Amino acid sequence: MKTMTIFGTRPEGIKMAPLVLELERDEEIENIIVNTAQHREMLDQVLQLFEIVPNYDLQSMEVGQTLEVLTNKIIYGISELLENERPNLVYVHGDTTTTFAAAYAAFLKKIPVAHVEAGLRTNTLHSPFPEEGNRRLVSRIATVHFAPTIANRDALVNENINATSIHVVGNTVIDALHYIQKQNVVMDRFIQPLLHNRMKTILLTTHRRENLNELESVFDAIEHIVTYEENVQVIFPVHKNPHVQAIAKRKLGSDINIHLVDPLDYQTFVQVMMNADVIVTDSGGIQEEAPAIGKSVVVVRETTERPEGILSGHLHLTGTSKERIVESIRHILSQTEHRTTLPNPFGNGDSAKKIVEITKRKYSVAKVKEFAH
Ligand code: UD1
Ligand code: UDP
Repeated sequence: MKTMTIFGTRPEGIKMAPLVLELERDEEIENIIVNTAQHREMLDQVLQLFEIVPNYDLQSMEVGQTLEVLTNKIIYGISELLENERPNLVYVHGDTTTTFAAAYAAFLKKIPVAHVEAGLRTNTLHSPFPEEGNRRLVSRIATVHFAPTIANRDALVNENINATSIHVVGNTVIDALHYIQKQNVVMDRFIQPLLHNRMKTILLTTHRRENLNELESVFDAIEHIVTYEENVQVIFPVHKNPHVQAIAKRKLGSDINIHLVDPLDYQTFVQVMMNADVIVTDSGGIQEEAPAIGKSVVVVRETTERPEGILSGHLHLTGTSKERIVESIRHILSQTEHRTTLPNPFGNGDSAKKIVEITKRKYSVAKVKEFAH
């Protein structure tokens, strides 16, 4: 059987890495690895860490390009590769422009699509934007849906997707986290002393498109906490998006207890998460990782597609209001024991194994054709 795994951004790289490695280990499957390179440095860091060398690199990233241009490049680039390689099944992940454009290219070639991390929904079309749209569109054209949780499966069933094509397998991000935790730690020389200086640490990340206009308010909240709470520092690996970089430097660049750093490699980032007293973020993946390591997260978004993390007590959804963020961070910092003991709702770290096993059992060359029609 010949498969193709397609990814293009940092989170897709992290979450697809365990599947790529699992497919590589399997003797019955030939897997072609395609990087659309929607992200460059931020994804290259990930591939280096997992020792993954793509067969193809579409070099799609260009500073300041529109999503329409990016989408076109990926559809054309992937179509050509599909024409040449003719895989039996294409794996895409999540909800990015790469995810949608690659799935659509495969759909046009009538090649079955397996959607990894399927069924996440906020049920608000523009939040997050464009991700909620992308994931709904991919669900319509995918043949196989690998859902992380039962709630994700139910969301797909409610949209009239055939239940026999949905498989609940957990989230591969937990596999990636376990893989990284087993590696020898090589710590960043600037970050390491910050983790041992006895200050309380807030780890901050932001990047969502629909949040860019609200970032000032999020950063005001951070500045307020650092000014009025004693002994608090912020580590903020700033996303490469030039808009995020500009606002971050302008609003937070001059406080000595706020450390603006380049995006951290995944291993260092996991170390910082494990040492943080509170994580403040609009990221999707971090909402899944933090519960797995027992950390509390202030989610600076209006909606989340990961309600499991709220139910488990790890996620606190504040929106972008300064007052609510300040209140939530203060509440978490004031708790003497930050680690919650509730179980992580996103899986056991065996998702990639399950996906490969199910692929072979149910979607081998003959069966997948039958399934697609
Ligand atoms: C993208 C995804 C989003 C995902 C996020 C993860 C879309 C529409 N958005 O958002 O779903 O949560 O990635 O981070 O697919 N840049 C660099 N170097 C890099 C990466 C980005 O310079 O390694 C800069 C470029 O100027 C690029 C810009 O960041 O144009 C934005 O990148 P883009 O992939 O369009 O959107 P993200 O906001 O990163
Ligand atoms: N991450 C990382 N280095 C950083 C910031 C984040 O390795 O400096 C990891 C993080 O652990 C998570 C993923 O990147 O696995 C999240 O990516 P991002 O927030 O860019 O995208 P999202 O998850 O929101 O789609």
